[in-house]
Order: sequence, then structure tokens, then C-alpha cells
Amino acid sequence: MDRVYNFSAGPAVLPEEVLREAQDEMMNYRGCGMSVMEMSHRSKMFDEIIDEAEADLRTLLQIPDDYAVLFMQGGATLQFAQIPMNLMKNRVADYIVTGTWAKKAWQEAAIYGTANKIASSEDKMFTYIPDCSDLPVSPDADYVYICENNTIYGTKYHTLPNTKGKLLVSDVSSCFLSEPIDVTKYGIVYGGVQKNIGPAGLVVSIIRKDLITDDVLAGTPTYMKFKTHADNRSMYNTPNCYAIYICGKVFKWLLKTGGLEKRKEINEQKAAVLYDYLDSSRMFRGTVEKKDRSLMNVPFVTGDKDLDAKFIKEATEAGFVNLKGHRSVGGMRASIYNAMPVEGVQKLTEFMKQFEEVNA
Ligand SMILES: Cc1ncc(COP(=O)(O)O)c(C=O)c1O
Repeated sequence: MDRVYNFSAGPAVLPEEVLREAQDEMMNYRGCGMSVMEMSHRSKMFDEIIDEAEADLRTLLQIPDDYAVLFMQGGATLQFAQIPMNLMKNRVADYIVTGTWAKKAWQEAAIYGTANKIASSEDKMFTYIPDCSDLPVSPDADYVYICENNTIYGTKYHTLPNTKGKLLVSDVSSCFLSEPIDVTKYGIVYGGVQKNIGPAGLVVSIIRKDLITDDVLAGTPTYMKFKTHADNRSMYNTPNCYAIYICGKVFKWLLKTGGLEKRKEINEQKAAVLYDYLDSSRMFRGTVEKKDRSLMNVPFVTGDKDLDAKFIKEATEAGFVNLKGHRSVGGMRASIYNAMPVEGVQKLTEFMKQFEEVNA
């Protein structure tokens, strides 16, 4: 069967070139007679894989030396606990709740201390990013937490919040490496890799080194301490070797195709194709405030549930798959991550136009 245009929110489309390379190397990685899946994480071969992956990520994001890069397990969700365990010295943290994932992180932090919700967009079904220029940041907050791109609702911070000098912690799972960021603006910037970078289960966290200490909450398991992973080059126990290997290939693909400035340009061009059509359509409409639109996740509706269902069914039959919106919001959502070619979005838009003509 031919490959489809996969608009899944995650796990999501990966660059074909990367999948083909992995296929070529499946039985025999560079003459060593085995797959990366079968290789010891203590081997020289794997050492090179993880070192190169880290070095390439550092180049892509221009990560300064005073930041560590950790490859950890448990996806983004485990970070919801690991972050407070490591950072909540005063047992106070401020959360900006802009969607399901930010809310989950906030609820998890409340297990460990006082988690203040200092802003939210829940009043309008998370369809916007609140004004974060002058928030009531708590004087004793250990950090301010955001989810930078809201996968389910399709909003993105285009300006980082004013944290009034407090540490910023950001979940960038669904916008990771979609555009350049200034790492120095964050205490921690992290993401699950299954959207823009690789297979699920792995999280990449970029952490300012002075935050990696033994001074963690009492009772924190060894495995949950950032220091455990930092001291052991992300190999305290057997890491998710195969996922790290695929991430490394995606980092190389991004470098080869022009880095993150170029990627941003492509992503803007790609998203504009869909948003411009949504803005001109009389059948479909985007569901979030224009100023807060995500370049990666584009939710839209017709306003009629039956018509939405018909559209999803016909689109799937035409090879545009995983367009159903998250179960909590309904409608449609096209996730157009780095590996979705511009042509995929153009063809989807063409399909939507035809659907509109026939069903108007
Ligand atoms: C923004 C964001 N944060 C966190 C998560 C949870 O990630 P994981 O399933 O890797 O725990 C997701 C998952 O889709 C997400 O989109």
C-alpha cells in the first residue's frame, strides 16, 4: 500500500528519508552485523549514536554549554512529576493553564506543593492564549510553567510570558524544532519526541545545569532525579536506544535541509495554505483566535457534526488520515508537523475545496 498523508497529532509522520535509512540499517548497522535494537547501550557504536544526537541537537538549537541535554523515558507526562520533584524548593509553582496538557501538569504539581493557576483560557474552551505580560507571579514561586503549543486546541504562545524574573519551564512537545528558540530564556525546555522528532516514549529535556542538583524533594526516587540522568549521560539504566537513534537521524535531516530558520519558513508557508483557505471557506472554519494560531496543529469544524463525520470519512478514503479532532473537542484537526510535506497540505486543501463545492 502507498503511504498516506498522515495528519496524526502524535505519534506522527516522520521524514521518509529517515525511515528509509533506518530500513536500510535494520539488519546490519554500519557493518556491525546487528540492528541498533540489538546493540548494547554500553557499546562504542551506541556511544557514537547518542553523542552525535546530542551534538546535532546542540547545533540545531544553539544550546549553550551551561545547559544539559537529557534523553529520558516516560514521555512528556513523567515530566509533569519530575519537574516539581526537582525544582519545587519552596514548594510553590505557578502554572498557566492553556489546555489539557498544561492542566495535567498543573494537577500533578499540586501533589508536591502549592501549584497556583495564575492564568487560564478555559473560559473560552482554550481557544486563545491569555495576555501574559503582567501576571500575578507568586513572589516565592520556584518556576512558572507553560505548555508552549497546545496540541489539542491548536494554540501557541507567540510571545513568552513575563515571568518577572522567575524560571520559565516549557513543554514544547508539539512544536519542538519547528522553529528556532532562544534556549537561554528557559530554565527547562522539554518535549516528548513523538510529534516532530521520533518514536514515542522518549523525552528530550534541555535543562540549565545549575538546576540539576541533589537538592530535590524528600522521597524523590533516584530515577526521578535529573542528576541521576545527567551524571550518567542519559544512560543510568538502559535507555530507549532505538528512539534516540531515530531522533539522531531526524536531527541530521533538519540540519541537512537548512536548520530551524529554514524549517520555520517552510512551516509558515505550509500553515498559511491551510489557514488562508479556512479564512476564505464558507463551510470550514478554524476554531482558535487568529493571533494565537499554531503552525503545527490546525483544528477546524464545519459547525455540523454529521458533515464533519462525512468529511473525515471521505478524506480518509482519499488517503488523508487521522484528521479527527481530539475526542475531547470533536471536529477536525490537521497536525502538520515538520515531516508533513507542503504538498500534503496543498492536496488536503484541494480536497477540502472539492468537498465544499459538492456539499454546499
Ligand atoms: C503538549 C503535550 N504535552 C504532553 C503530552 C504527553 O506526552 P506523552 O504521551 O509523551 O506523555 C502530549 C501528548 O500528546 C502533548 O501534546
